[in-house]
Amino acid sequence: MTELTLRHTPADRLPEAEREAILADPGFGKRFTDHMVSIVWTHDRGWHDAELVPYGPIPIDPASSVLHYGQEIFEGLKAYRHPNGEVVTFRPEENARRLNASARRLALPELPEELFVRAIDELVRLDAAWVPGGAEQSLYLRPFMIADESFLGVRAAERARFLVIASPAGPYFTGGVKPVSIWLSQELARAGHGGTGAAKCGGNYAASLLPTRVAQEHGCAQVLFTDSNTADTIDELGGMNLFLVRSDGTLITPELNGNILAGITRDSLIRLAADRGLATEERAVTVTEWREGAADGTITEAFACGTAAVITPISRLLGEDGTLVDFGDRAPGALTVSLRDELTGIQFGTVPDRHGWVHRV
Ligand code: PLP
Ligand code: COI
Repeated sequence: MTELTLRHTPADRLPEAEREAILADPGFGKRFTDHMVSIVWTHDRGWHDAELVPYGPIPIDPASSVLHYGQEIFEGLKAYRHPNGEVVTFRPEENARRLNASARRLALPELPEELFVRAIDELVRLDAAWVPGGAEQSLYLRPFMIADESFLGVRAAERARFLVIASPAGPYFTGGVKPVSIWLSQELARAGHGGTGAAKCGGNYAASLLPTRVAQEHGCAQVLFTDSNTADTIDELGGMNLFLVRSDGTLITPELNGNILAGITRDSLIRLAADRGLATEERAVTVTEWREGAADGTITEAFACGTAAVITPISRLLGEDGTLVDFGDRAPGALTVSLRDELTGIQFGTVPDRHGWVHRV
């Protein structure tokens, strides 16, 4: 296969002073860099028209399939600035693989993994001035694919577009590593067996918005979803995987049961824990087990993890019947904090990268 090269159309860059003002307090997902990637796919020609173009609105026909049937997938990864100024991403080939797994489920075309990684490298290199250098700051990258064939028949579209946008980011949850409360959603589910729970598609997040609003009304930052059949077996949070920690240091996390996203942070933490001789039980885990274990002291910590959330300690689990788990002042737990420090140290270049996870752009 011939390699597709990305044609560059330079943007008028945002003046440096304005960019620096944004980087001083970027928030999450609010402002975007000067350029974006766009690559077109058509059924007859495959991938073509690969471009790095000025960031901005894209023309979209009102009959585009994505607007009607939600044929869309996305990824999330970050670029980090190391102390020596070098810019890196973290395991981007895993995001490339997962995008293609999502593409298969959503009947979208697969993108060559090499092209995914190269497109991101070129965007980050071009907009490197947008990679912040402050503590816990990074450039959040959002690759996504939409079906943009103009056709109202319900079938897989014969035209799609892959885009990458980039946004300077501080912590997803404000308040540093402050523990968060989460809300148990038992009525409203995000995924069911045979559905799209394991794919990173927009529809899963649309399904999580109403329960997230309910969670926020109860003072919670995120929703914990359980298996829609049992309402007790834990799946994951709206945008993060969940880990529990036992008093002996064993980690417990829901197995990849087809309903949850195979988090790259999740996988990385399982390996970092194994390096320390700590086992992770990947299996069905219930709210009942968590509640009882927290009450009798056998479960001592809980945390959420994902690219945006990094590792966020959980102090409380609330549900319709009130508080189910309350770690109170014991959160964040020691293992949560030390795994977080190790992972972010690797990403930010202050801890050796034993696994070769860091990718220089
Ligand atoms: N689960 C869901 C539903 C997510 O949206 C995310 C975030 O991408 C994760 C888990 C964590 O995945 P990762 O660690 O690859 O960011
Ligand atoms: C990510 O962590 O990259 C996600 O997509 C999750 C979302 C909460 C922003």
